[in-house]
Formats: sequence, structure tokens, C-alpha cells
Amino acid sequence: MRHIIYLLLSLTSLAVAADSPNLSELQADAQQRIKGFSGDLKSALQAAISSGGLPDGVKVCKDQAPRIAEKWSGDGWQIGRTSLKVRNSSNQADAWEQQLLLDYMAKLTSGTKPAQLKRAEIVSNGDTEVFRYMQPIMLDTMCVACHGSQLAKPVQQQIQQHYPADLATGYSPGELRGAFTVKKQL
Ligand code: HEC
Repeated sequence: MRHIIYLLLSLTSLAVAADSPNLSELQADAQQRIKGFSGDLKSALQAAISSGGLPDGVKVCKDQAPRIAEKWSGDGWQIGRTSLKVRNSSNQADAWEQQLLLDYMAKLTSGTKPAQLKRAEIVSNGDTEVFRYMQPIMLDTMCVACHGSQLAKPVQQQIQQHYPADLATGYSPGELRGAFTVKKQL
């Protein structure tokens, strides 16, 4: 009898485990989407810069970044980029993202490697649950042309024209620029 009870108990917990969302599977899915998004965005940006120069890169980033993000969203997933200092105000960080970005800054200052700052979490939102995932985006040398302290005049003009409220300049290579952020309603 006791064995049967144990068997029933373990079957029940298996059923619960299969039913509840698996954090590491969700995280793997989020990372795949980020890989696709960032790969496509980088290719679009590089193609635009090599054919029309940096000012064209600004335009392509403006038109393509939201479209490519949409391509890698869907099926309940939402992918994007955010920052504490945004260029496009629709990339503004929400409270969860803001707090985590501040945490990234503190940890990077005390020597933590960017790759260790990935965060996956299931957040309760009233009676719904949302899977959230974020990973840092660091600035490399190619980014300073559009996010650094001294932009070429034509680049600056393009940015001013499309983003009059731009906050995303003044960065140096190696700094935290922002993050990829992924959500899925569970
Ligand atoms: C040719 C200019 C250009 C280059 C080079 C460039 N960016 Fe951007 N970046 C932009 C523009 C324009 C936007 C706004 C896109 C939009 O409207 O969604 C942007 C937005 C972003 C955002 C989203 C948050 C925000 O501020 O709205 C991040 C993060 C970002 N860039 C990081 C980078 C990194 C990292 C690199 C280097 C690998 C880089 N960028 C290179 C022009 C550029």
C-alpha cells in the first residue's frame, strides 16, 4: 500500500513538473531569439554602412531594428533592446529592466564579467505570470561612431533629425550600453 502511495505521489509531481514552465528551456529559447535578432541587425547595419556610410546606418537602424525585433518575436514572445539612456524612447526600460541595469552597472564596476550577468526569472503580475530574460549589451569599437563622444557631423545630423531627444551618446568601448530584453506571457 505504502509503495502505491509513493508511486502516486511521484507520478503527481512528475505531472506538475511537466505542466509548469521550465526556466532553462525558456532561457534557451530566449537566447536563440537574441542570437537571431542581433545577427540580423548586425548584418543589416554592416550592409548599410558599407554601401551608404554611417549616416545610412542610422536610417537603417531606425527602420530595421523594430522590424527585425518583430521577426524574432511572435508566439507570445516579445524581444527588444533597452538601456538606461535610450536613443529611441520606445526602448525605454520598465521598472524590472531599470533595476537590473543598475545592478549590472554595480556588478561590472566590481569586476563581474558581462557573460555572468544573464538573468532569467518568472515574474508574477497579478494573476498572470511572465517569463523575463535580460542579457547585457557591451559597447565595442564599431559602436562609438554612433554612440561615442565625438560623432562625425553627418552622423550627428542624422541622429538629431530622427531622434531629437537622443540620450545614447558619450559611451566608450567596453562600457555597458544596454541589454537585450525578452518577455513571454505564461
Ligand atoms: C550607424 C549608427 C549606429 C551604430 C554603428 C550603432 N548603433 Fe546602436 N543605435 C543606432 C540607432 C539609430 C538606434 C535607435 C534604433 C531604434 O530606433 O530602435 C540605436 C539603438 C541602440 C540600442 C537600443 C537602445 C536605444 O538607445 O534606443 C542599443 C542597445 C544599441 N543601439 C547598441 C549598439 C551597439 C552595442 C553597437 C555596436 C555593436 C551599436 N549600437 C552601433 C545607431 C547605431
